[in-house]
Amino acid sequence: MQNSDVSPITRQVVEAMAKTENPRLKRIMESLVLHLHAFALEVDLTRPELDIALDFLNEIGKSTNDSHNEAVLLSDVLGLSSLLCDGDPDLAEEAEALLGPFWRLNSPPTPNGASICRSETPGPRLLVKGHVIDEKQQPIAGVEIDVWQASPVGLYENQDQGQADMNLRGKFVSDANGDFGFESVLPAGYPVPTHGPTGGLIKAQGRHPFRPAHLHFLLWKPGLETRISQVFVHDDPYIGTDVVFGVTPGLIGDYAKQPDGSYLLERSFILHPGEAFLPKPPIQ
Ligand code: BEZ
Ligand code: FE
Repeated sequence: MQNSDVSPITRQVVEAMAKTENPRLKRIMESLVLHLHAFALEVDLTRPELDIALDFLNEIGKSTNDSHNEAVLLSDVLGLSSLLCDGDPDLAEEAEALLGPFWRLNSPPTPNGASICRSETPGPRLLVKGHVIDEKQQPIAGVEIDVWQASPVGLYENQDQGQADMNLRGKFVSDANGDFGFESVLPAGYPVPTHGPTGGLIKAQGRHPFRPAHLHFLLWKPGLETRISQVFVHDDPYIGTDVVFGVTPGLIGDYAKQPDGSYLLERSFILHPGEAFLPKPPIQ
């Protein structure tokens, strides 16, 4: 879009921002204004509709608190978070996933092999064996791995008074063989929170609010690109219609049923050299 093709107001706004010192901020805001104005004209946005949209934004802010992040939820439900995932969506070891609104910093450091059930958590037992390797298939030791998941009733511990603080969350460190592991329960699918404005939007759009069952992983070590991943249960009924568009072929795992009725998930992650970063925690 050329500045010359746009309305006088749009041009004035872009010109008013011309002295922005930060070049990245300048580029982002110019493009945002151009697209926002073009969008409003394209859909013939009316003043009452603009008021509804601004109220919606205000409600997003008002419904966010230390244990709930409505803005992250909106980004997820609009597909924006999944759009920005890179990595190879088809390869199990490389696929990236969205972080979602439920990651907490400071998950309890937990020895490899231990359970992340920190209060009574009924459900089929699950053993997870993870393996962290580099591009040459060599093990990487000392990677910190955060894991988090919903309980078999479909709630994260921060949504559920019945679970202990930090239930079904843990922080592991890969050993000299690149291995880490833990015991848990098979995750269940769950509806994303629908009490706020994002839930109203989903409803108005005739969409269901469900995510297929999954485990979350965040792998972090200085000098390596941080990997955010999820591993989905392959036969979940919502595997093809995740409300946040987060499922790619590479993220579907094989939760193998064992003769004793428990499940085993084995999973490798390839990490690449690069800059490690920790996302801003969506909740406290
Ligand atoms: C999650 O997987 O934790 C999640 C992701 C997006 C929206 C809600 C929950
Ligand atoms: Fe989740």
